[in-house]
Amino acid sequence: MMHEDSSSEAQPAPVGRAGLIAQSPAMQQVLEMARRAAQTDVSIMLLGESGVGKEVVSRFVHRSSPRAQAPFIAINCAAIPETLLEATLFGFEKGAFTGALQSAPGKFEQAQGGTLMLDEVTEMAAGLQAKLLRVLQEREIERVGGRKRIALDLRIVATSNRELQLAVKQGVLREDLYYRLSVFPLRIPPLRERREDILPLATSMLEHYAARFGLGLAPQLDAGAKQSLQSHQWPGNVRELENVIQRSAILCAQGVITVSDLFLQTFEVVAPSFPRLPAGDQAAMEAARAPVRRDLDAELADNERQLIADALRDSHGSKKLTAERLGISPRTLRHKLQRLREAGVELPPTHDG
Ligand SMILES: Nc1ncnc2c1ncn2[C@@H]1O[C@H](COP(=O)(O)OP(=O)(O)OP(=O)(O)O)[C@@H](O)[C@H]1O
Ligand SMILES: [Mg+2]
Repeated sequence: MMHEDSSSEAQPAPVGRAGLIAQSPAMQQVLEMARRAAQTDVSIMLLGESGVGKEVVSRFVHRSSPRAQAPFIAINCAAIPETLLEATLFGFEKGAFTGALQSAPGKFEQAQGGTLMLDEVTEMAAGLQAKLLRVLQEREIERVGGRKRIALDLRIVATSNRELQLAVKQGVLREDLYYRLSVFPLRIPPLRERREDILPLATSMLEHYAARFGLGLAPQLDAGAKQSLQSHQWPGNVRELENVIQRSAILCAQGVITVSDLFLQTFEVVAPSFPRLPAGDQAAMEAARAPVRRDLDAELADNERQLIADALRDSHGSKKLTAERLGISPRTLRHKLQRLREAGVELPPTHDG
């Protein structure tokens, strides 16, 4: 039975796109290593910036493993309060706490035989980290309020967008857990370091959205749009690309996406039209390709505003998650939001959770 339970607590499941795109040598190498690790029972630590595809690669590990027919269960450790997280992971017996009217299995048990993805494992509270360490060592659990030991047979894939050594230094991640988790680390490079993947990803996403929005034939990217996508920095990685493509698929006219449909906020605003050049005129060619530079401060501010708005939307307005996604402190985020609102920028509604 194929059962994919995504972390519905936090993020929408990745859309059922046909495949995982990996054209770049860097990404192919990641997948090759993932495929090998998948044949064993080793715990895998997936590292990478927000939006690089950690969940996508976790699912790939599961599919490539002998456990493929058993459940894949994902849980976002950052999205659930500590007390609830423990009961969610370990399950509980009837009467274990007020409101535990029935006993229930936790995610560990639900993932029996399969794969458990502990998303953003570094955001787990210290007490739970100790309990997780024990699970990894002993391969068994007890439900909250229970006595029975339940043997576990599953693979754990943990993810983080932090630098683990730094997280240890900052006291965010227990050192002993760090050693346990980083037996098989896999780092997914940011999109800007594997530009060969950009256009294949964009094309596959266009086909997906064309089908989903009933647009008929998938819109095509014109030359300027392609160049613009390829030279963008993609601080939000594949998720940012997905947002841009989705928006442009809706906005474009007559099935052709131009630079202006992309609404890319970049340092380098590519000139919208390219003069025709005599073949071989290298210097003129370079000049035509050179980006038009806008005022740096304005570009930075635009970029920041876009990133914050995207992160807020992806986090469903949670300030905590948004700050984590952006790698800034909640305090810094609060400041920036206040400044933006004062400047009259419309932002999605936010909450503290
Ligand atoms: N190689 C890929 N091929 C196709 N789609 C991809 C690929 N990588 C990422 N995506 C898509 O990009 C989006 C972000 O990917 P994913 O959720 O796996 O990233 P993540 O690293 O887990 O992000 P976060 O750190 O924010 O949780 C998803 O919608 C996913 O389907
Ligand atoms: Mg994720």
